[in-house]
Amino acid sequence: MKFHIVTFGCQMNDADSAWLELALTRRGWEHVPEEQARVFVVNTCSVREKPEHKVYSLLGRLKRYCEGRDGFICVGGCVAQQVGQEFWRRFPRVRLVFGPDGLASVPDSLEKLMARPGLRISLLDFADSYQERDFSRGPGKAPIQAYVSIMQGCDNFCAYCIVPYTRGRQKSRSSSNILQECSELVQAGTREITLLGQNVNSYGLDGEGDGLSFARLLEEICKIPGVKRVRFTTSHPKDLAPEVIAAFERFPNLCPALHLPLQSGSNSVLKRMGRRYTKEKYLDLVNRLRQTRPDMVLSTDIIVGFPGETEADFSQTLDLVRKVAFDSSFSFKYSDRPGVRAASFADKVPEEIKGFRLDLLQREQDVFTERSLQNLVGSTRECLVEGRSLKPGTPDETLWKGREPGGRIVNFSGPARDLTGELIPVTITQAKKHSVFGEVGKSYD
Ligand code: SAH
Ligand code: SF4
Ligand code: F3S
Repeated sequence: MKFHIVTFGCQMNDADSAWLELALTRRGWEHVPEEQARVFVVNTCSVREKPEHKVYSLLGRLKRYCEGRDGFICVGGCVAQQVGQEFWRRFPRVRLVFGPDGLASVPDSLEKLMARPGLRISLLDFADSYQERDFSRGPGKAPIQAYVSIMQGCDNFCAYCIVPYTRGRQKSRSSSNILQECSELVQAGTREITLLGQNVNSYGLDGEGDGLSFARLLEEICKIPGVKRVRFTTSHPKDLAPEVIAAFERFPNLCPALHLPLQSGSNSVLKRMGRRYTKEKYLDLVNRLRQTRPDMVLSTDIIVGFPGETEADFSQTLDLVRKVAFDSSFSFKYSDRPGVRAASFADKVPEEIKGFRLDLLQREQDVFTERSLQNLVGSTRECLVEGRSLKPGTPDETLWKGREPGGRIVNFSGPARDLTGELIPVTITQAKKHSVFGEVGKSYD
């Protein structure tokens, strides 16, 4: 059976789709390009209005593919959880809807749908505990960089955010299962592991884990023999423990990169967002992180135009962005989501003001991003090679793509032999807009 998966949204969704592909491939199904597929899986994101709309336009397009070849569509992820069986009415070709907690049952459900043409299935129940999945893979199939989920859901209910409603309550995964999956990956050739959760710093605090804190879990992962690089995302500033900051000093394989969403630099906005930290606390964390690892690469998320955000509030965000000098940031216009607290807040900021603020913020950030990449020029960084850097139209056998410890993309020229998966020192020679360029020494020929 030929299937095709399209994924929107965060790394959680990427990891979920990767698992589904693995599980279906194990059953003899084949992942093919869109034009050849008969079964389509759309893994959706509902964090803002825009990604939700993208889902509807994609479904409109896929409908046409299905008509010619007796195909059908499965909609999963956060929009599926939110909209549910309503999809069946609007898109008759949709035969399966599944929320994030329903994923583990999708392969069985797909086989049932194949066997019974009139059937429709919905998997929208939230689970009480973390849903384990079978991660076994054939020999030689381990990815060089792997995502490992350590929890599901979120308990924070930030006023703007739909995630706690689409992914349900926080459920930590048992640490022995996490460690087992990581060890198996490393034995099978994985070099870099990224631990995933909506708020990894509160791992274990929901009582569903087995008593281990995130700091202790991180320590165990860093100590797995042969794991070259460890990363984790996302961190909520209110829960970033001193032990986790200290881990950046203790474990050389813990990469000096942290995504620490700020959301706003105004204390009154932070308060109304329900973030439970102040800008002073945030700055203190940044200082401590940089004292621990001066080469720490910091990235963040910022929302502009949260209801009631004044010019003065926004200037404080700009001010904080300048003070921290983030290496990169993702910024978004506030978007109303159904059912979240902020949707009913007064003083919505007009669309054009949001656009204006976003633009100002992004221009400010561009300067810091450029400076951060420029600072790499002249240094030699160890890069994990992801594969060939094939420029469209001009495949060059000696161009490679990798990442330095801070997570920045490094394109470099080197030998023609396959370097994929190797850790190689690369001397950075040039900074581009979002990446850098470098070269490896002759000794690597
Ligand atoms: N769990 C992560 C964030 C997940 S959502 C965390 O807490 O850091 C990713 C980002 O989307 C958030 O950090 C926030 O900046 C943005 N976001 C979430 N809801 C939004 C909304 N309603 N409008 C605009 N941006 C939003
Ligand atoms: Fe959303 Fe806040 Fe949870 Fe992040 S911590 S997923 S922003 S509710
Ligand atoms: Fe989007 Fe759901 Fe992730 S709303 S950001 S796919 S948790």
